[in-house]
Amino acid sequence: MKILMVSSEAVPFAKTGGLADMVSSLSTALAKQGHKVKIVLPRYYCIDRTRLEALEGAMGVPMGGGEEWCKVYTASLPGLPPKNPIEAYFIDHEQFFGRDGIYGVPSEPDFLDNPRRFTFFCRAVFQLCRKIGWYPDVLHSHDWPAALAPVFLKFRERSGPFGNTVSVLTIHNLGYQGIYSKDNYQHTGMSWEIFYHAGFDDWNMMNLLKAGINSADSLNTVSPHYAEESKTQEYGFRLDGILRYRSADYRGILNGIDTDIWNPATDTFIPETYDINDMKGKKKAKEALQKEYGLSRNPDVPVIGLVSRLTGQKGVGELFGPAYGSAYSFCRDMDLQFAILGSGEAWCENELRSLSSQLPNLKAKIGYDERLSHLIEAGSDFFLMPSRYEPSGLNQMYSLSYGTIPIVRNTGGLTDTVENFNQDTGTGTGFMFDELNPQAVYNTIGWAIWAWYNRREQIEAMRTRGMKLDFSWAASAKKYIEMYEWTLKKTV
Ligand code: ADP
Ligand code: GLC
Repeated sequence: MKILMVSSEAVPFAKTGGLADMVSSLSTALAKQGHKVKIVLPRYYCIDRTRLEALEGAMGVPMGGGEEWCKVYTASLPGLPPKNPIEAYFIDHEQFFGRDGIYGVPSEPDFLDNPRRFTFFCRAVFQLCRKIGWYPDVLHSHDWPAALAPVFLKFRERSGPFGNTVSVLTIHNLGYQGIYSKDNYQHTGMSWEIFYHAGFDDWNMMNLLKAGINSADSLNTVSPHYAEESKTQEYGFRLDGILRYRSADYRGILNGIDTDIWNPATDTFIPETYDINDMKGKKKAKEALQKEYGLSRNPDVPVIGLVSRLTGQKGVGELFGPAYGSAYSFCRDMDLQFAILGSGEAWCENELRSLSSQLPNLKAKIGYDERLSHLIEAGSDFFLMPSRYEPSGLNQMYSLSYGTIPIVRNTGGLTDTVENFNQDTGTGTGFMFDELNPQAVYNTIGWAIWAWYNRREQIEAMRTRGMKLDFSWAASAKKYIEMYEWTLKKTV
């Protein structure tokens, strides 16, 4: 099959979260199973043009009543055999993408012209196919920035060379939908009839994800449990009704992890590699982590790690909310260490700086740091993810395979990947809680720390159990293939 991934992020080129990991690792898994995969993304300022190859000439893209012109660059995704490479294509438009930031910058987190930038990007996808003379069987879009591609396919392009192309839209996060003023609709160049027909309308605004959900031939999200949750009012971010309406075409497929990048036996970011039979390297990683974070170098004290975007979705209010969050109290009251890496909302970054200066056993580093994220996964004993909602979550899977026990809220992909500890039977792979409030976090941390000091054999058995789980992409990639085949069969 020929598959074109349309995404605003892909590792190693541009990343703000798990979307980037997922797009590249799914593509790689599909290519390894023999499929022809290409990826298209914008050429952001942070992607160095000198390391890319330019396609000849310029490319015109219909926008509104006119055209925008751009350049296209290409590069191969690293780590694949030359006989079945994955080409990534970069849409280069100075006005739209020649600036710092992917969706925004701290002073302007959502660029005012994002609807225009991503309308352009989605339309450019079709011109790119024409330019390179390659027409996919499956146009696979990810999240709101790519959600207009299925809309353009359905209402503008499904004829001629795209006559046999079907569209799939993967929802990674319903919390971001791309809702903008209707004035921006003009850039699509489509009629107002289509505006209503495609379901752009959202209380007199324009909702890009909603139009994508209405228009794609198939839909999925990144875990079975979140697929169910997202159809409820509590989790659906107002799109639960449409997702219920489309439930025959909507499924949940759990993300895999890229074991070439996230594997303690080969990880080059940690002081010494390790595996289930020889865990010395994990002890070294803990020592290195404690040193780097300025925590007391004591192997007996449990270290809790956290690597996250600092945003409400991740439960940071319940942890660090001033006079509300429980991190201050559990660090004050319990014999543990807490190592944090994150960036995001300003209040939270400030609060973390302040907590780090008040507590000897809580230390935070603010920023985005790939190496450190690996060191935390390897060097921690526990990994905390108190998410409000979690479509899949990758970090808990990284944790399990690094012998780091997840402490998670029972939601979304966390439910599908972690099994709660049972202190009577010793079964389980992590510690879970249902409600999201500071007390529940405090209780569960207390339980895990109690087990660390009093049920050490059970803790060690849990580590080993987690490390034996297989989260590689092979199984999930097959489910994507099934979905593609099913979509092709029902559509063309
Ligand atoms: P989400 O995509 O919702 O942020 P995931 O768990 O799917 O959550 O993926 C998060 C990814 O981003 C992981 O690969 C994680 O290691 C990475 N990440 C998040 N914050 C940082 C950070 N500050 N530094 C390095 N990596 C980070
Ligand atoms: C989103 C979700 C996360 C998921 C990631 C990759 O950012 O928040 O749960 O793992 O996408 O699919």
